[in-house]
Amino acid sequence: MSGIKTLGQFIIEKQLDFPYAKGELSRLLRDIGIASKIVNREVNKAGLVDILGDAGTTNIQGEGQKKLDVYANEQFIAALTSGGECCIVATEEEDDFVPIDSPVSKNAKYIVCIDPLDGSSNIDCNVAVGTIFSIYRRKSVEGNATLTDVLQKGTQQVAAGYVIYGSSTMLVYTTGKGVNGFTLDPSIGEFCLSHPNMKIPEDGTIYSINEGNYVHFPDGVKKYIKYAQVEDLSTKRPYTSRYIGSMVADIHRNLIKGGIYMYPTTAASPNGKLRLLYECNPMAFIIEQAGGIASDGLNRILDIEPTELHQRTSIFIGSAKMVKMAEALMAEHSPVTPLQGQGVVIGE
Ligand code: AHG
Ligand code: MN
Ligand code: MN
Repeated sequence: MSGIKTLGQFIIEKQLDFPYAKGELSRLLRDIGIASKIVNREVNKAGLVDILGDAGTTNIQGEGQKKLDVYANEQFIAALTSGGECCIVATEEEDDFVPIDSPVSKNAKYIVCIDPLDGSSNIDCNVAVGTIFSIYRRKSVEGNATLTDVLQKGTQQVAAGYVIYGSSTMLVYTTGKGVNGFTLDPSIGEFCLSHPNMKIPEDGTIYSINEGNYVHFPDGVKKYIKYAQVEDLSTKRPYTSRYIGSMVADIHRNLIKGGIYMYPTTAASPNGKLRLLYECNPMAFIIEQAGGIASDGLNRILDIEPTELHQRTSIFIGSAKMVKMAEALMAEHSPVTPLQGQGVVIGE
């Protein structure tokens, strides 16, 4: 085993960074790791068994659910229920938050927000999908945890991570002390440390956006896209356009190579499409910890005060220099905070 450090070993070692930690967060992370291996197994055989296709139900946001979304949701909730460290799961796939009511979770003090399967429309064509999670400490000290415990700002996250089920499967997470990535070695069934202390390049040449929505983008975004396409050797433009349609996969690639991922407001999604609690906040925490920036175009994602479980926001996330340029163009050409489409002009 020389040279290999498993996720389990790494988590235990890192627990020593927190002298008063009782190991609850470590167990929570371990549980998420185990559930993700089960989901990985099912995702890998998606082409083989009759698990593809609509489950026939629709989630609160009116989106058709694929069977694997449902399966992944059940696996993570089951793991968090039996683990005993989590009192509430807020998931993309359930209208309301799910209180965990089991004898082992009586004194549980963690809240988990999760997108069990991100990019699930990509499964039937064998394109990478992911899981995104975010962990908070509950604020209330007694009684049942409530929605107020869930609606915390991104700055309050104690840990966040994602799993990418790609050409290999990786788990990447942060507890606020840098970002580490683990690749699943299927021969031993363990996530092994493969990307220690991940840092996103300060600048990059990849921009990722669903350009089909161009006509509906704010002017600041249109200007950024044009900026990306102009020839300028000193800044290595024109940039390269890459859009997978799985946020996890697009951001993971940009984390490694340098780049910007944008999902701005559109006519179909006037408040943005992606969800603050279980998509944008965790990815923002990871990217900031890796040295990048995450913004809604004008404000830091992690500073947004959530008011709803399934709240959406626009997002510009990635290499610091690229996001700053996009923010500058937004401030100049679209100086309206996209915060939930309230149409508030800055300065008013
Ligand atoms: P989910 O599968 O969890 O609903 O998320 C899909 C998200 C995100 O992963 C992706 O980047 C984006 O939706 C793609 O949206 P468009 O098809 O509108 O580009
Ligand atoms: Mn998603
Ligand atoms: Mn999803």
